[in-house]
Amino acid sequence: MKTLTVDIRKAQPEDAEGIADVHQHAWWGTYAGIIPHKSLTGMINRRGGKWWASAIRRSAFILVAEIGGDIVGYATLGRNRSRDLRQQGEIYELYLKPEYQGIGLGTRLFEAARLKLKSNGLVGLVVWALEENSGAMSFYAGAGGRDVAEGVELFEQKALRKVAFVWP
Ligand SMILES: CC(C)(COP(=O)(O)OP(=O)(O)OC[C@H]1O[C@@H](n2cnc3c(N)ncnc32)[C@H](O)[C@@H]1OP(=O)(O)O)[C@@H](O)C(=O)NCCC(=O)NCCS
Repeated sequence: MKTLTVDIRKAQPEDAEGIADVHQHAWWGTYAGIIPHKSLTGMINRRGGKWWASAIRRSAFILVAEIGGDIVGYATLGRNRSRDLRQQGEIYELYLKPEYQGIGLGTRLFEAARLKLKSNGLVGLVVWALEENSGAMSFYAGAGGRDVAEGVELFEQKALRKVAFVWP
């Protein structure tokens, strides 16, 4: 029997197509029926391989989870963008391909992202999740996040509530 190992590492430009594929499938799986169709299609189509290659060149803060040579998940992170929260680090996105969800990979990618922020001197962490994304809400609460703030995202006049989870 072949044993496949999970590698969590910094993204390289040649990972761009793999990340674009994860992005497309994970976002459809997560947000279809929540984010209005036109907005969701627009956000997905905008971020093809070229977009990701350029993002990887500009940022040292994109991580990937790789199994047997395939990119199955990614995380983007950096400085907290919300002035109202004092945490310095933020995980902007954390997504796995649907067939790789629920087997502990999200926890590993989350911990790697948290460590990366910490080792870059960013103290404290914030993550925003849409309230209707029940999987993410359970995941972050289960990972010890404290929900401390709420906000609203507008998509084609549809207002979606979002929640900020923080870690010290
Ligand atoms: C959210 C996500 C990153 C979690 O990663 P994962 O590998 O699926 O989660 P894990 O297997 O590490 O699970 C850890 C815990 O999270 C919770 N959890 C994860 N997914 C869940 C879901 N869909 N529903 C309910 N609880 C869930 C469970 O409590 C689980 O604890 P358990 O092992 O005691 O059951 C992943 O499911 C994903 O990519 N989802 C779609 C994209 C998304 O919502 N990203 C976050 C955007 S803010």
